Amino acid sequence: MKTSNFLNVLMAAALVVLAAKLHFVGICCGAGANDSSAASVAAPAAAPAGAGATVIDSTGLLPGVKGFGGPVPVEVEVKDGQVVRVAPKLPNEETPGFFQRLSDAGLWRAWDGLPVEVAATSRVDAVTGATYSSEAAIANVRAALAVAAGKSREDFAAEAAARARIALPPPSRSAMPLGEALAKRATYRDFSPEPLTNQELSDLLWAANGINRPDLGKRTAPTAMNRQEIDIYVCRADGAYLWDSEANALVRVSDADLRGLTGRMNDGDANFALVAPIAIVFVIDFERQKMQGRPQDAFKYASVDCGFIGQNIYLHCAATGLHTVFLGSLKPEQIARALSLPPASVPLFAQTVGKPAK
Ligand SMILES: Cc1cc2nc3c(=O)[nH]c(=O)nc-3n(C[C@H](O)[C@H](O)[C@H](O)COP(=O)(O)O)c2cc1C
Repeated sequence: MKTSNFLNVLMAAALVVLAAKLHFVGICCGAGANDSSAASVAAPAAAPAGAGATVIDSTGLLPGVKGFGGPVPVEVEVKDGQVVRVAPKLPNEETPGFFQRLSDAGLWRAWDGLPVEVAATSRVDAVTGATYSSEAAIANVRAALAVAAGKSREDFAAEAAARARIALPPPSRSAMPLGEALAKRATYRDFSPEPLTNQELSDLLWAANGINRPDLGKRTAPTAMNRQEIDIYVCRADGAYLWDSEANALVRVSDADLRGLTGRMNDGDANFALVAPIAIVFVIDFERQKMQGRPQDAFKYASVDCGFIGQNIYLHCAATGLHTVFLGSLKPEQIARALSLPPASVPLFAQTVGKPAK
């Protein structure tokens, strides 16, 4: 494909993503905060607690967990050590159509009659077609059940806060000479599921786009006009994190496993992105890049800027024995929704990283 054609295709695809995101936000906002009349279509009516029953409200237990349109707090009613009722806490900001699907799928009855300890660990699958709403609702039910089982709300909140931010150790630098790393640089798609240590992750992220000149606030990868418009998200089986490069910490932004939305999906092969422990997603913040008036420049520069970070990761992996593959095959709209990205932030590329398959 000629370069100009390639750029046109890339720009068109990215503009479609941006347009879809703007449309998506419009739909969300249209549902309206506190649109309780609409949400009540699907929700079981809130019932007063029966004699001897306790109602646990999950509001505030999981501040970072959101459905499609907002938080999905629940009420769990427990009597004689058994779950007697699970219902959404109304009003809330979730989109009514999704609530209808949760009710139709019988989600709220999935825990009925179970002893609290069993319910707290029982597996309940997300509802197809309402994945984000149902995952958020299930997480809220689990949180409420943990409180019902005896954990104090304060302990639960403290544990959630500790999980919400992972401080990484200071980065160390690979010792391999650049020429040798260049000689080894290659794409690999075989991965071991073994997780990376926090030290390995810190080293990788610093090489990718770390601050290498603190006095200037500049980084290992260049950006056009030093806009530094790329945010790095680290997706793991246990959730997705935004890398705070100044604090060198991972800030949890989703409990969902988004790795499967980054890798190869349509050719029937096993999805290597689900085997490798890390999927990095490069998110362009077009607001920060400040080139909205010239979309051809915005996407041109953003793509090149991503490429520099990608090559840093390739070279770091070559130097440290990790495997990696740069990916254009991600699902940007779904990732953006799961990460609750603002409309001007677009996932553009991804990169799988892990240890070689044994
Ligand atoms: C912009 C870009 C997008 C890519 N997208 C994918 C992809 O979606 N899936 C994949 O398996 N590999 C992808 N790759 C990896 C290329 O297939 C790989 O770099 C190429 O085959 C050359 O191999 P090498 O990196 O070992 O030199 C991508 C590479 C680039 C630069």
